[in-house]
Amino acid sequence: MQTIMVGYLEILCGVTALLLALYYYFMSVFSFWERLEVPGLKPAFFIKNIFNIYTMRLPVSLYLQNFYEKYKNERMFGFYLGRSAILILKDPELIKDVLVKDFSIFADRGFIVHERTEPLSLHLLNLDIRRWRPLRRQFTPMFTSSKLKNMFEQVLECATHLEKHLDKLAARNEPVDFRDIAAKYTMDVIGSCGFGINVNSFSDEESKFYKIGTEYFGVCLENMIRLKLRLYATKLYDWLGYIFPENYYAPFFANLVTETMRYRKEHDIYRPDFIQMLMNMKEHPENLDDIELTDALITAQAFIFFAAGFETSASTMSNALYELALNQDIQDKLREEIKEHYAKHGGDMKYEHVKGMKYLDKVFKETLRKYPVGGVLTRRSACPYTFRDTKVTIPRRLLVFIPVYAIHRDPDIYPNPDVFNPENFSEEAIEARHPMTYLPFGDGPRNCIGARFGLFQTKVGLIATLRNYKVDVCDKTMIPYEFDANTFLLTAKGEIYLKLTKLEA
Ligand code: HEM
Repeated sequence: MQTIMVGYLEILCGVTALLLALYYYFMSVFSFWERLEVPGLKPAFFIKNIFNIYTMRLPVSLYLQNFYEKYKNERMFGFYLGRSAILILKDPELIKDVLVKDFSIFADRGFIVHERTEPLSLHLLNLDIRRWRPLRRQFTPMFTSSKLKNMFEQVLECATHLEKHLDKLAARNEPVDFRDIAAKYTMDVIGSCGFGINVNSFSDEESKFYKIGTEYFGVCLENMIRLKLRLYATKLYDWLGYIFPENYYAPFFANLVTETMRYRKEHDIYRPDFIQMLMNMKEHPENLDDIELTDALITAQAFIFFAAGFETSASTMSNALYELALNQDIQDKLREEIKEHYAKHGGDMKYEHVKGMKYLDKVFKETLRKYPVGGVLTRRSACPYTFRDTKVTIPRRLLVFIPVYAIHRDPDIYPNPDVFNPENFSEEAIEARHPMTYLPFGDGPRNCIGARFGLFQTKVGLIATLRNYKVDVCDKTMIPYEFDANTFLLTAKGEIYLKLTKLEA
């Protein structure tokens, strides 16, 4: 009997010691910010912290906004995502150092490439600096102003399809989901300008291109689990590659790229687009320094140009229309500018005319202020780094977040930040602000490579919609606006329904 009791006691002691060791292991990290003398929250208990993240009903950008306000007078503060310590930068000068001045130290985003679980993750957005640099150098010429000008006719053609479709929808007199409409339009543009494909999303809802795009960004259980694991349990996500590799999207893009390349080669077709750029890279691997241009690497680049190019702009276009429906005076003023331009140029629309529309530019910028699809920018330190005029030295491989959404909604920077006010982008207002207080496309050498393209296709889509139609809120409109907590990009939760009315000519 006594021997059994001693046995139980030993097990109990063993379990207690194990639990204490685990507790220490999980909690030890939480003194990190104290040691660095950076203000920061110490989570009550690790499990609670994990629980908060996995069950988060807010996107990370909005979650951070609460702390941004709490540390109002600080230049930076510390934060924990699971066991990872993350530094949140608030001071625009320090942000500039990280994004621009000391870029060589903060060139990586700290995103992990999960080659096995997700072969498509080998793309520009995720890649480490060694593989990123030569690829970025190769892709940059695709987005110059002259290249965009060459694509203008293709974009206009997609806008014409959009208008025709709006005509049909207006006649039905039913609420229209503008998230879907904007997705179809931007998908057509990316298909045409990037891949030389007529996607025809408006007439062909069975189009594989369209389906893949909406499914990839759709909120379903698998996407949600993958997103959370990718962000907060990266090692586990890597191991899962042995059991659940992503094998739906990768073969589609691999096939799309190889088939298009083969067809063009066989028929000697040249189009100044993304596929052509990939073909050039394959033919001249010597321009890629020492990186190996594998098929997986090529496919992943095609994927990111499709994915980053479509959902960001589609979301911005539908968010703009949402605000214009709520603010009829702004909508009227914008339509007046559009009509004036058409009248001035004999009913014609050219690339330069889009650039010349000043009020449209303000509306576009204000939309991305209120709804920045990239709500947080991330960088990771390559070596220990001391922030200027501070005693704070961070170690190598620390994640640094720039809370774009919180900055864009800071009332000290944008008075009445929840009000949609294009005059936030008058010349005087822009001049009065620090440039690092508006970061919808990031900044520095790792900023958004497709910013010009995104701006351009969104503006053309808005012109096509507003020239002859009016948008209004209706019973089905989501008021107040809500963000989705389960998507990588900061986008609306669900559809954006608006009433569409055709205007008399
Ligand atoms: C309104 C439209 C868009 C918005 C708001 C947007 C926003 C962003 C943001 C915030 C970043 C991260 C920048 C940083 O970390 O400093 C980014 C990166 C990127 N974007 Fe965009 N984007 C848009 C359109 C596009 C388009 C049209 C394309 C391609 C056709 C594109 C391709 C990319 C790529 C490849 C990266 C990674 C760049 C790199 O790491 O070198 N984006 N975008």
